[in-house]
Amino acid sequence: MAGGSTKNGDGVLVKIGIPKETHDGERRVAATPDTVEKLLKLGFEVQIEAGAGEAARLPDAGFSAAGATVVATAEEIWSNSDLVLKVRPPQPPELPQIQENTHLISLFFPAQNSNLIEALAEKKCTVVALDQIPRISRAQKMDVLSSMANIAGYRAVIEAANHFGSFFSGQITAAGRTRPAQVLVIGAGVAGLAAIAAARGLGAEVRAFDVRPAVKEQVESLGARFLELDFEEPAETEGGYAKEMSKAFLEAEYALFAEQAKEVDIIITTALIPGKKAPELITKAMVDSMKPGSIVVDLAAEQGGNCAYTQPDRAIEVKGVTILGYTDLTCRLATHASQLFATNLVNLLSDMVGENGYAVDINDEVVRKSLVLNKGVVTWPPPPEPEKAVPPPPTREVPQKSEPTPAAKPKASGHGARSGPGAIWPVLVTVLALLGVGATVDDPQLVHNLTVFVLACFVGW
Ligand code: NAI
Repeated sequence: MAGGSTKNGDGVLVKIGIPKETHDGERRVAATPDTVEKLLKLGFEVQIEAGAGEAARLPDAGFSAAGATVVATAEEIWSNSDLVLKVRPPQPPELPQIQENTHLISLFFPAQNSNLIEALAEKKCTVVALDQIPRISRAQKMDVLSSMANIAGYRAVIEAANHFGSFFSGQITAAGRTRPAQVLVIGAGVAGLAAIAAARGLGAEVRAFDVRPAVKEQVESLGARFLELDFEEPAETEGGYAKEMSKAFLEAEYALFAEQAKEVDIIITTALIPGKKAPELITKAMVDSMKPGSIVVDLAAEQGGNCAYTQPDRAIEVKGVTILGYTDLTCRLATHASQLFATNLVNLLSDMVGENGYAVDINDEVVRKSLVLNKGVVTWPPPPEPEKAVPPPPTREVPQKSEPTPAAKPKASGHGARSGPGAIWPVLVTVLALLGVGATVDDPQLVHNLTVFVLACFVGW
């Protein structure tokens, strides 16, 4: 174990280290003074590299005041921490600093990082990949993908507004009227919905499209119009994600977007299919047909782009249309991004800390699914879910010839209930008794009332 911190027999780790992110352009940090306080309350010691929060406008003094130890170098963090919290997966220059048996929790993208898995397996590391946390209700509070997508969607609108030469909201001034900007959002997942909300908030008129018709209500509840295709094809996996659509469906989508491109001022694309290259949905011809001054913001730029012109990390202009392929939208809101990311981390850790302190419990669904390495053993991808026991189909009751037992007798209640033949006897007895009473009474009015009552008994029966 790296470092000399206290731990119990169960391998409880107490010293957390937070290095400064080294990836080019990364401004987020995996802790804030607020989350440091929470980590201390959970029983961890916390040390942070000097300047780790600077780019997110979180100075060292705040971390010290919260109770963290500020250390000078990343080397000190890696060599003296049991558990390292990071935003990005370790970068190549960081690898030599990683000690044997270190635990790491960060974004990891195991499918794209087999070399990194190998390198950390050799060091017997334990790695929890935040990007693999299952999207179940219990884990929503730890879902960094949703937190970051929400920020990216919002920021996409701010970037579009920054490049757009007109108002978003319609204006009525003494100098005349301007119409509201027309915005099309493609893909109404977490980022798309955040983009719709932000664009509506700025006063734009928004329309949106998604292959999953289930999101229609969410789109409309944000005040946007949901575009629909007259084309039926199942679009969702069991997990609620989009699946790759057929060529015929995509053709229908192209026809829709070709029409829309001529009408709208801004297109924000967020369409992704987990584990696949992003679908190309906005062709060069569509962009060429847009009005000069229009904007395309491609949030799928890192996964190959939804727009044919997109260049990752660049803003380009083609025939008067600006295409933004920024992949660092969350870093452009680094303070809030760090705050949400770090809070997601604390939420995960507070679930991992049990009676005996911190432990990697593979019986916990969230841990099991996001565990890439366990003491050097590769544990990703996780084993498939055991098949849920399917209840046997309801058996049709075969009518019995013999008399039903009292418990099995159908209940005679409510409309349409039928009584058995035996049920007539109590009624007949009551009727005869009442008729007997009637025969002994002289009062014609009473006799009339009794007759009506007897008839009512029959009708009711
Ligand atoms: P994502 O980032 O993988 O995809 C973005 C959107 O692109 C999705 O809505 C998808 O349907 C859409 N898309 C894919 N191909 C398209 C095409 N050809 N044309 C138009 N749109 C296309 O998805 P994200 O935002 O990560 O989540 C998607 C869904 O997952 C959410 O809406 C929600 O239902 C579910 N989710 C559940 C969570 C939970 O329960 N904890 C947390 C986050 C998401």
